[in-house]
Amino acid sequence: MAKRVITYGTFDLFHIGHLKLLQRIKNLGDELIVAVSTDEFNTVKGKKTIIPYEQRAEIVRNIKCVDKVIPENNWEQKITDIEKYNIDTFAIGDDWEGKFDFLKEYCEVVYLKRTEGISSTQLKNTLKVFSVSKDEIIKAFDVLEQLKKDFD
Ligand code: CTP
Repeated sequence: MAKRVITYGTFDLFHIGHLKLLQRIKNLGDELIVAVSTDEFNTVKGKKTIIPYEQRAEIVRNIKCVDKVIPENNWEQKITDIEKYNIDTFAIGDDWEGKFDFLKEYCEVVYLKRTEGISSTQLKNTLKVFSVSKDEIIKAFDVLEQLKKDFD
């Protein structure tokens, strides 16, 4: 029988860390289900996304190694999903290390090393830097110049 693996996440501003994680998770089995956090659930998690749920889900659904996308609506659905989809393995990045050990009663639980140096938060911060206007940059330089004078 096909071995089924599941993972959960927001996948905002889809990046190479997401891709590598999904590929490595797929290699743990034959079929990969990805539960993508809805915008409402992200609000509960305190995460603000740039890309809306429907688009994040569509991008993940079209990644070669992904077989199915379902919505992640709340913290509690994991056990129900594992039973409903006959999941053999739950896998997620090691920023969640130990957090889902309670699922070991229901299936194998695996934490995989994250790709270093990239995250959605980091990309959002980079976008913020680029969105600063020329006038604001000039103003900041003026302030720095003044500070330097005061310091000297
Ligand atoms: N992930 C990864 N390597 C990265 C970033 C994320 O392996 N560099 C994994 C996470 O561990 C998680 C999945 O990708 O299992 C989805 O993570 P998500 O929170 O959507 O991505 P992040 O880029 O970590 O987003 P944020 O900065 O908002 O936490």
